[in-house]
Amino acid sequence: MALLEVENLHIAVSVGGVLQPVVRGISFTVDDNETLGIVGESGCGKSMTSLAIMGLLEGTPVRITDGSIRYDGTELLQLSSKQRRAIMGNRMAMIFQEPMTSLNPVYRIGDQIIESLRQHKSISKKAARARAIELLDLVRIPNPSERVDSFPHQMSGGQRQRVMIAMALSCDPKLLIADEPTTALDVTVQKEVLELMSDLQERTGTAIIIISHDLGVIAETCDKVSVMYRGKIVEAGTTENLFERLAHPYTRGLLNSIPVVDHDVEWLEAIPGRVPTLGEELSGCAFHPRCPIATGLCIAKTPGDTYIAGNHAVKCHYADQVAS
Ligand SMILES: Nc1ncnc2c1ncn2[C@@H]1O[C@H](COP(=O)(O)OP(=O)(O)OP(=O)(O)O)[C@@H](O)[C@H]1O
Ligand SMILES: [Mg+2]
Repeated sequence: MALLEVENLHIAVSVGGVLQPVVRGISFTVDDNETLGIVGESGCGKSMTSLAIMGLLEGTPVRITDGSIRYDGTELLQLSSKQRRAIMGNRMAMIFQEPMTSLNPVYRIGDQIIESLRQHKSISKKAARARAIELLDLVRIPNPSERVDSFPHQMSGGQRQRVMIAMALSCDPKLLIADEPTTALDVTVQKEVLELMSDLQERTGTAIIIISHDLGVIAETCDKVSVMYRGKIVEAGTTENLFERLAHPYTRGLLNSIPVVDHDVEWLEAIPGRVPTLGEELSGCAFHPRCPIATGLCIAKTPGDTYIAGNHAVKCHYADQVAS
């Protein structure tokens, strides 16, 4: 049994009283010490999935309409939010997409970490401050005993992102979800933040989910990958298996829009077209309007999973040809 098991998860958003499906039956697992990357274009349902796991959809127009989310064998979707808080404590933490919206600009960062620590543990102010400095040091903020008194705007984007990681770690989570931890950062800082997360994993055995729209970032940091398109996982496997034989035209398009890749020149430009809007129903494979190899079959029939090697699963009628 894996630490986190998401099975056939469906999520919909209520628009004018009508439920529009957004996440359409996704399944994945994450274990201790394992890093799962979820990749996909803007709007495909990545953040909704993480908010669903965290139990943060209450009070929003977003509803979980089917499926299961189990943590350590406990079904989370059957718990009230009170039960959930009691059972789960702080075993999960999330780093949000935009650090400036999650840090309060009017409080010193140290005080924000201290508050988070004291919410989760009975610990004196003095001990919490010492722990806050330790955490800032752990995420490699220089001069942590001075920086603990900085305000968010006095730090760089990369430093703020690290402070967010320090806050997420303040409760010693068993599962850490990092939603686009790097998009706002330049490439070197991105790399440092990701290295930091894998160092932390080595030390603490945390299970990590990294959400990104950059397949390159995922390739470097994750043990396994799920590629989402329009609310479905269209390709999934271990990083090794998947990159050895990319088998979904969408995944190939994603990778080859990274300019350093020098093969398959015809894929080099960004994938043409756009993700269909919410509520726009498409027959067959949802990628068919943008797919360079789509045929009548792709319009007529929704593809199931084709297995390439081991657990490497691909939702494309032509997966075997694409992979070869
Ligand atoms: N509160 C909401 N009300 C209405 N629609 C929403 C709401 N939250 C999300 N959506 C829609 O649901 C879809 C999935 O959103 P989600 O935030 O999960 O995308 P994402 O994959 O995280 O994208 P990005 O890469 O831009 O962060 C999008 O089409 C979005 O517009
Ligand atoms: Mg998002």
